[in-house]
Amino acid sequence: MSAYFEEKVTSVHHWTDSLFSFTCTRDPAFRFKSGQFTMIGLMVEGKPLVRAYSVVSGHWEEHLEFLSIKVPDGPLTSRLQHIQVGDTVLIGRKPVGTLLTESLLPGRNLYMLGTGTGLAPFMSLIRDPDAYEGFERVVLVHGCRTVAELAYEDLIKAELPEHELLGELVREKLLYYPTVTREAFVHQGRVTDLIFNGTLPADLGLAPVDKAHDRIMLCGSPGLLADYNAWFKQGAWIEGTNNLQGQYVIEKAFVEK
Ligand code: A2P
Repeated sequence: MSAYFEEKVTSVHHWTDSLFSFTCTRDPAFRFKSGQFTMIGLMVEGKPLVRAYSVVSGHWEEHLEFLSIKVPDGPLTSRLQHIQVGDTVLIGRKPVGTLLTESLLPGRNLYMLGTGTGLAPFMSLIRDPDAYEGFERVVLVHGCRTVAELAYEDLIKAELPEHELLGELVREKLLYYPTVTREAFVHQGRVTDLIFNGTLPADLGLAPVDKAHDRIMLCGSPGLLADYNAWFKQGAWIEGTNNLQGQYVIEKAFVEK
């Protein structure tokens, strides 16, 4: 049996010159947990060319959705960015990943911190009612260079609060904090500084982040992860794993090499 499902592209959306997303059909046998990633890609010269992508869509949805950057000479994304409705994409059969709420101790506020396409796993998590269990608030933070890169802003701000099944939970618990670093916007600054210096929780009327009460899920660039790792280490935060619930979990955003 092939390691991949062959699925059909059902829609493509270009957010900017360097960012796009697409949806595709989903084999009923493809199961994943909210926050996981899988290998996806295209057949190129008779061989699978794949990279790791977090699933954006909810685990209960009939289709799958993915968010991608466009790297001009990236082996996969230089091709993937041209996909059209009806094209075939490969979807790896074995999703994996560490951004699981089951790896976290219950707490007060759950911070989901993503930069760039590091938003993707959190888009799936905020559509999972179980992700809100055990937390008073879920704070979704998306950091980008420009406002145009704040993908899914309308979905988060307008659609989800009105959603038939999720609306009530989202209205009660979800706080969305988009922030931009290279142009003027209502929130400006890096996802590191805004948490480390307390600006972000203060803006939302929340207490400063405290490992005794708060949990963090992180997905972003290697630099972001390094800065947080140093901060977690300094504060003696406990990392959650498969076998041990902790105070934070981390995944790197998968940038094409
Ligand atoms: P900045 O504009 O200050 O570099 P990218 O598009 O490079 O993936 O970046 C996405 C967002 O992540 C940008 O707002 C960028 O801010 C920010 N960023 C990049 N590196 C770090 C880091 N080490 N810590 C915090 N934020 C970072």
